[in-house]
Amino acid sequence: MIAAGQNDAAPRGRFITFEGGEGAGKSTQMKRLAASLAERGIAVVETREPGGTPDAEAIRSFILSGRARPLGGGGEAVLFAAARADHVDRIIRPALARGAFVLSDRFTDSTRAYQGADGVDAALLDGLETLAVGETRPDLTVILDLPAETGLARAAARRGAGDADRFEGETIAKHEARRRIFLEIAEREPGRCVVIDATRGVDDVAAEIWQVVSERLLKPIP
Ligand SMILES: Nc1ncnc2c1ncn2[C@@H]1O[C@H](COP(=O)(O)OP(=O)(O)OP(=O)(O)O)[C@@H](O)[C@H]1O
Ligand SMILES: [Mg+2]
Repeated sequence: MIAAGQNDAAPRGRFITFEGGEGAGKSTQMKRLAASLAERGIAVVETREPGGTPDAEAIRSFILSGRARPLGGGGEAVLFAAARADHVDRIIRPALARGAFVLSDRFTDSTRAYQGADGVDAALLDGLETLAVGETRPDLTVILDLPAETGLARAAARRGAGDADRFEGETIAKHEARRRIFLEIAEREPGRCVVIDATRGVDDVAAEIWQVVSERLLKPIP
């Protein structure tokens, strides 16, 4: 059993977020990593955004149904921040305080990519982020990168004949703008972020993620 954070003054788990466009493999890879960590006796909490708590899930379905669209990107960003604050307070922070590894399917970078690509001011997004998360920032962010067409084709195949949600049903140019924002975030914050080529098979992607997690977060403490 690895006692995460045992060198810290207060024990603290590790916070890992999965980011990237639709169909990049975030949910698939998060499950794989959760299983690998659990196999090693590490306590894992899996969660997702938007959502993660009953109130945040209610906000999630409101936004993804498209009903918040008339509020504009700024209005959606405020709703996401409210949902995120609840999620951080009730789920993420308590789990980290218990020493668990918390894995979140999307987090703050998705707000930067989605609402940022919709033209919401970066300073407003910064302020909302601080309001929602405080000091609870990811230790590692896995950015799954692939061309928008590839991800959308995967998401469409998974969905079958069902309808695209509020964000899936947008132009390729918009999806590529989000992809560029994810890559810019990774360039700005290499200590937190790792970009993974998500066009490869599930096993190859999982192996690379495991290598990064092992090196960055599971190294034995000297
Ligand atoms: N590396 C891969 N190669 C081929 N198909 C994949 C790969 N990873 C995931 N898939 C498949 O593509 C679909 C989308 O994967 P997944 O749901 O994990 O993506 P996601 O990033 O969580 O998507 P969303 O943003 O829509 O939630 C699924 O049907 C999944 O089985
Ligand atoms: Mg998913």
